[in-house]
Amino acid sequence: MSQGMPSILVTGGAGYIGSHTVLALKRAGYEVIILDNLVYGHRDLVEQVLQVELIEGDTGDRLLLDDLFKTRKIDAVMHFSAYAYVGESVTDPAKYYRNNVVGTLTLLEAMLAASIKKFVFSSTCATYGVPEFVPIPETHPQNPINPYGATKLMVERILSDFDLAYSFKSVRFRYFNAAGADIDGSLGEDHNPETHLIPLVLLTALGQRESISIFGTDYPTPDGTCIRDYIHVSDLADAHVLGLEYLLKGGESEVFNLGNGSGFSVKEVIAAAEDVTGRLISVKECDRRPGDPPALIGTSEKARKILDWQPQYPGIKEIVAHAWQWHQHRHKY
Ligand SMILES: NC(=O)c1ccc[n+]([C@@H]2O[C@H](COP(=O)([O-])OP(=O)(O)OC[C@H]3O[C@@H](n4cnc5c(N)ncnc54)[C@H](O)[C@@H]3O)[C@@H](O)[C@H]2O)c1
Repeated sequence: MSQGMPSILVTGGAGYIGSHTVLALKRAGYEVIILDNLVYGHRDLVEQVLQVELIEGDTGDRLLLDDLFKTRKIDAVMHFSAYAYVGESVTDPAKYYRNNVVGTLTLLEAMLAASIKKFVFSSTCATYGVPEFVPIPETHPQNPINPYGATKLMVERILSDFDLAYSFKSVRFRYFNAAGADIDGSLGEDHNPETHLIPLVLLTALGQRESISIFGTDYPTPDGTCIRDYIHVSDLADAHVLGLEYLLKGGESEVFNLGNGSGFSVKEVIAAAEDVTGRLISVKECDRRPGDPPALIGTSEKARKILDWQPQYPGIKEIVAHAWQWHQHRHKY
């Protein structure tokens, strides 16, 4: 670790995207402290793979945050922690507004009190709602159709207002579908419960699930299934390091989409997984789910231009291959 490098607090660093970003920060020489309540995070990955300090605690715990900011030198915060199950946010919105909005506000107030004013935030393409057109630029209207998306939009609004009032500088990243795993195979996607397509397909290939459900085969897309924009998690992680550096150099608050710029249908993802794994994957064709737009694709030209972000793994086969390597490692069979 280099002497004198900035120290970064990473909330949710024991989770999927956070852990990959911690790895990228470490590789870039930053000092990292993780704050994670381990509701969904993985202690073993932090201890065995990341090997950085883990503070087990909650972003809603103001006393803990005050103590942390008083006793440690923290230059900026990257905020990944949130609940992110869209369906659950519809049935239990209070849980989502409490954690994603109130918890974040508590963190932001503690940062202000400690005069830490650089913040990288995990927002989402779910803030756009059903797109009026694709590819979606950052200027597309934001009309989330579920509480999860609404919580993220509220935080975006809080961040704009904090900048105006307190010169609090933030980079807000609106991710499309994070996927894949670090190329060395020791970190990957391990949500429980898992709702994301690529891990579900691979768990089916591993025999841990009977089949993969395709929700809707009659969409106005070339093969009738939904198209999504999958962005490799290591490319996301790199963008976070660039976003942080942008802020550390005095950059103004900005918002960036992070996506691949091209979409893949559910059937294309399954075909890529069959190719990568060499196994037949059993599918179940089901009705459409309410609220699923036919295609969600973002344009990330702004991040490429302003942050000089250059995704390394835009192909779906590479993304699936890296995820497969991780799944084989995690679920030794
Ligand atoms: N995975 C995606 O495709 C995707 C897409 C768009 C946006 N996002 C956003 O990116 C972020 C990271 O997503 P992920 O897939 O890595 O999720 P994840 O569940 O793997 O990671 C989130 C981490 O935050 C921790 N956490 C939750 N609430 C906390 C709290 N109050 N205090 C401390 N720790 C807490 C969890 O234990 C977990 O380790 C989330 O904010 C999510 O909304 C994810």
